[in-house]
Amino acid sequence: MDIQALRATAQQLVAPAKGILAADESTGTMARRLESIGAESTEENRRDYREMLFRTVGASDYVSGVILYDETIRQKAADGTPLVEVLQAQGVIPGIKVDAGLTALPGAEGELATQGLDGLRERLAEYRELGARFTKWRALLNVGPAIPSSYAIEVAAHGLARYAALAQEAGLVPIVEPEVLMDGGHDVERCEEATEALLREVFRQLAVQRVALDGMLLKPNMVVSGSSAPNRARAQEVAERTVALFLRIIPPAMPGVVFMSGGQSDDDATTNLQAIAVAGAKAEAPWQLTYSYGRGLQALPLATWAGESANVKKAQRAFLHRCRVTSAARQGAYEPAMEKELAAV
Ligand code: 13P
Repeated sequence: MDIQALRATAQQLVAPAKGILAADESTGTMARRLESIGAESTEENRRDYREMLFRTVGASDYVSGVILYDETIRQKAADGTPLVEVLQAQGVIPGIKVDAGLTALPGAEGELATQGLDGLRERLAEYRELGARFTKWRALLNVGPAIPSSYAIEVAAHGLARYAALAQEAGLVPIVEPEVLMDGGHDVERCEEATEALLREVFRQLAVQRVALDGMLLKPNMVVSGSSAPNRARAQEVAERTVALFLRIIPPAMPGVVFMSGGQSDDDATTNLQAIAVAGAKAEAPWQLTYSYGRGLQALPLATWAGESANVKKAQRAFLHRCRVTSAARQGAYEPAMEKELAAV
């Protein structure tokens, strides 16, 4: 294992002012996203939409890497250039989602497990050939009155560590993504409790399976209230709980935490990240705290594009705007007045 190269890539991904664009929606998820704007989910439409994002001039000031899906890493832009090369030409690092999605966890009602370990060693080698330098694997816990169970937590953590060890062996930085899902009416304490139990088990499994923490990144949820909770925690509380929890359990050897937006609105994803950046700086957090947003960066450009080539320029302006404000938030420099800048261009 070339730990120096892994460490260098991990550090590049969380470079100051930068974060990651998660554009690794599976074909099923992408179909839902395209349906929401009235566009058909054809291979060409999926390509055109992602090419629009990847060719946004200036976005590489804020985006260090892009997580791709299996279809996209093999796709060519309309002019025949592989999409991977479109990214590389701008100094953006291509990454790839390598899990194969979720399935019911046997004997555990309402709980899920991630698939994709079978044949993973071979797939990782192929993705490296195709230009990927980092990878992502998502494990997910649902929250309910009697869940997550310790069984689901153990399975999630074990799979994440198995994946991370294989990714490092292949010379690919693993992004370890343990997500406590925001869906539900649970309060912020419940989210914190589940996040703590999961992260503790994840770092235990990473140690057991000999993963080099300095050559990986963690992609967790923020500690937030359930999406339908009656009194949702505000940014200050989200930030204080998230940073305090991480300081208790995440080793400083790990270069960076790259948050998901996880179904938060654009506004919440930005203001919570801003508060986390401020709280992290105050606490002298040892890791970079930044973004690996899917919806948090894409919701606005997707709606603006609406499947029409005539809207490409406008959608790229919207994407650049989301990148700029999210990067500002990551640096603790976001102000709501920045939202007016888009209207001004
Ligand atoms: P969201 O930011 O939309 O949660 O997507 C990030 C991601 O990669 C989820 O797996």
